[in-house]
Amino acid sequence: MSRCFVTRDLPGAALDRLRADHEVEVWPDRFPPSRERLIDGARSAQGLLCMLTDPIDAQLIASCPDLRAISNYAVGVDNIDVAAATARAIQVGNTPGVLTEATADLTLALTLAVLRRLPEGQAAVLSGGWRTWEPAFLLGRDLNGATVLLIGAGRIGQAVARRLEGFRARVVLAGRGDPLPALLAEADVVSLHCPLTEQTRALIGATELAAMKATAVLVNTARGPIVDTAALEAALRAGEIAAAALDVTDPEPLPADHPLLSAPGALVVPHTGSATHAAREAMADLAVDNLLAGLSGDPMPHRVATRPGP
Ligand code: DGY
Repeated sequence: MSRCFVTRDLPGAALDRLRADHEVEVWPDRFPPSRERLIDGARSAQGLLCMLTDPIDAQLIASCPDLRAISNYAVGVDNIDVAAATARAIQVGNTPGVLTEATADLTLALTLAVLRRLPEGQAAVLSGGWRTWEPAFLLGRDLNGATVLLIGAGRIGQAVARRLEGFRARVVLAGRGDPLPALLAEADVVSLHCPLTEQTRALIGATELAAMKATAVLVNTARGPIVDTAALEAALRAGEIAAAALDVTDPEPLPADHPLLSAPGALVVPHTGSATHAAREAMADLAVDNLLAGLSGDPMPHRVATRPGP
């Protein structure tokens, strides 16, 4: 029997499978443990099941001499120093695949919301600004026929591309090494689906935003720091792009008085890409499968390899 620290309770019954064979401590709060509490919980554990809100860096890994398995309750692993774990022969696992469709759905929801100006429409209704039907009230843009640039052609990017076929949009998939400025200049919608790495941090900054059409919209359901927040706010205020729909932000969460939230065309939702009952329960199952395998010395079913360098 091993000792496991789980940094938040999970939907569904997956944790019962862990409890059946191991001693499990679950952090009971709604908010993540502080760094001290995280180290306290993980220090004597062989298994750690953590969230994207838990920074698992080299120093934390070094403070946990018995750790054998780290299972992230997310597909993104930018919160974990995978190289430091691998150097200690600690397996790291993630939850790919099961949240692909939910995240792709939210991407389309956000894209349509900003193209069709839903936040402004609701604000008009709530404030009494909807007085009558008008020929030119709240005109938006069509997804039908739009050029949609998807940056990141992995599972989620491809699932978004499949949905966009149904809308008859023109999809351009950009991967590493593609000429971003030229592609950005052509796009009506730019949607981000790449992982956060040192190469993609601030990938969309002032120069890239300036390259986009003034009518274009930016959608981010990947990771907040892929976009330079200050540059995005400035671009929205200057009318360099029409709107930004963000499921993820930098910092995350954004304080309620953050200036980006009042910039024209900004729509921000609270990192809910995978937030469906089915996706979050399936993520819990994969995270527990990974941890159980790692603790018994078997290869995790979804093991993360150290990322190759640039
Ligand atoms: C992930 O899994 O990386 C998402 O951002 C959380 O659902």
